[in-house]
Amino acid sequence: MSTTTLAAHLSQPTIPPRLAELIGAVAKGCVEISAQVRRGAAGQIMGALGSENVQGEVQQKLDVLSNDILLALCAKAEGLSAMASEEMETIHPVRDVAPQGGYLLLFDPLDGSSNIAVNVSIGTIFSILPTPADSAGRAVAEADFLQPGRNQVAAGYVVYGPQTQMVLTLGDGVCAFTLDPDCDDWVLTNPAMTIPAETKEFAINTANARHWAAPVSRYVEECLAGVEGPRGKDFNMRWVASMVADVHRVMSRGGVFMYPWDKREPNRPGKLRLMYEANPMALLVEQAGGASFDGAGDTLDAPVTSLHQRASVMMGSKAEIARLRDYHAV
Ligand code: AHG
Ligand code: MN
Ligand code: MN
Repeated sequence: MSTTTLAAHLSQPTIPPRLAELIGAVAKGCVEISAQVRRGAAGQIMGALGSENVQGEVQQKLDVLSNDILLALCAKAEGLSAMASEEMETIHPVRDVAPQGGYLLLFDPLDGSSNIAVNVSIGTIFSILPTPADSAGRAVAEADFLQPGRNQVAAGYVVYGPQTQMVLTLGDGVCAFTLDPDCDDWVLTNPAMTIPAETKEFAINTANARHWAAPVSRYVEECLAGVEGPRGKDFNMRWVASMVADVHRVMSRGGVFMYPWDKREPNRPGKLRLMYEANPMALLVEQAGGASFDGAGDTLDAPVTSLHQRASVMMGSKAEIARLRDYHAV
């Protein structure tokens, strides 16, 4: 059997070498994070640090370790100007002067922190933006990161599950790679991930049901009504509580993932973060034939006003997202 590795995939002439180098650095970081995750309680990675991140969330040791691994490895990539992370309040510049045609890297170093202690799948999410044309020759600033998701030149996630897998888009479809633990090579295991248009599966934290907006309640109630209801079919519900694992299931066999705005904090657009979670996942889902909606429009077109901005998230099978859009238009 012939195998294609991530390195071979990234050496295609259509991929700018500095972008390939940066994605290779992220992938290397994720191999290291994967090794730390596997150590679990046999290593030094379990438990809370006692600190809080900019969102006021308690940081786990693994959140910070994963962040540090990615910072150290990615700083070496020549085309990279600066990084931003869910775990850091401000941007992390790596070059005094932005290279022409360079890149900005954003990440959620460890997604699904609440699942670390219970040995359930967790992940890393990343997004790559171009440095704005007018930033060449000067240091990049936070404002340079505030670009809509549509501008992303690449996005991906790594799921640390029974297997470690990377799902990647460079804006031309979606590929999946599986880490071979014997040699630490990423092997291309799905060259064209596609999300079926229709589904019988949805993912939402139903503990928040009483706080949802009417269109979300209607959608979920109709799914729950099953074969006797207006949908005329029975649905399944799944909720891992690691976005990476929940979206990976949607990418693998269809479905809808939702973490919508709710009334708990009416002035907050949602729980999940636009730049580190919603936008990279929305690009992957769209590139796999699905769709993404934030209650007003396409996630990828949402205006960006701050680095740690939150978003309302609905993404997955195209026909289901179209239905959710219709319900929001009523
Ligand atoms: P993170 O661990 O990066 O803070 O993200 C956790 C997120 C996301 O992964 C998941 O979908 C969601 O939080 C789960 O939230 P609930 O615990 O409210 O279900
Ligand atoms: Mn997360
Ligand atoms: Mn996180």
